Amino acid sequence: MAEKKAFVTGHPITHSRSPKIHGYWLQQYGIDGSYQAIDVAPADFADFLKSLREEGYRGGNVTIPHKEAAFAGVARRDHAADEIGAVNTLWFEDGVLWGGNTDGYGFAANLDDHAPGWAANGPAVVLGAGGASRAVIHALKERGIKDIRIVNRTLARAEELSRHFGPGVSAHGAVGELLADAGLLINTTALGMHGNETLAADPAGLPDHAIVTDIVYVPLETPLLAAARARGLKTVDGLGMLLHQAVPGFERWFGRKPEVTPELRRMIVADIEGQR
Ligand code: ATR
Repeated sequence: MAEKKAFVTGHPITHSRSPKIHGYWLQQYGIDGSYQAIDVAPADFADFLKSLREEGYRGGNVTIPHKEAAFAGVARRDHAADEIGAVNTLWFEDGVLWGGNTDGYGFAANLDDHAPGWAANGPAVVLGAGGASRAVIHALKERGIKDIRIVNRTLARAEELSRHFGPGVSAHGAVGELLADAGLLINTTALGMHGNETLAADPAGLPDHAIVTDIVYVPLETPLLAAARARGLKTVDGLGMLLHQAVPGFERWFGRKPEVTPELRRMIVADIEGQR
């Protein structure tokens, strides 16, 4: 049988860690497959989508800046992609190109891994109202969290998300007293990222049972996570979200549900540390 082919596309794409993740699994499971990084300029993206079948791809991942164009360009979408408004995973099914979004799945699976039972910890405070925030809010809603508070510097963007996700999702321009009874605090902003290592919010005001997580994973311990740990709170870093979001795509293209193992995590941590 011919080699099973998949890809990740973005612009630029050189920094993507997805080829390392999928390459590790292909090797671990002895699958005759490939996973290739392809740089596609925005102007060429529609043609790229059209060429996939001819090129023999089973599907692939889509990252910045193509997630919205992929959303518009596929024939069918899964529920998560519709809710999030972006597509990060492509595959062929029933003869047509499907688009899904696994970022919310990855977010929830990471917490399942490192903070089992987390979904009982509402209310949740979500910092940020961009694309990553949408995936996180989708996952929180799916897991039954009834009180989700979006805090964003630009209030109008939080309000737009609150309208989109409906009852139980509120919009705020500042953290204020929102942390006092919150069981979950999630940073989806770029604050805390390498080169911008500022505290996204002060976890001092959270109750003792709260869980704090960050979708930023470079550095692995952001200032927010460090402050939460110092305060004695349970913390979960963002690397597991990256690893887990890759699972559904791999299973679709290569026919086996891969495992997020400590060895895979160590490999990606070493890669991050090597590039800093
Ligand atoms: P992503 O898709 O990664 O979520 P995005 O859509 O650009 O990226 O969203 C970035 C988020 O980080 C937004 O919530 C943004 O706040 P604004 O909507 O007010 O721009 C937030 N953000 C980025 N830099 C920030 C800063 N210096 N202070 C506060 N929030 C910031």
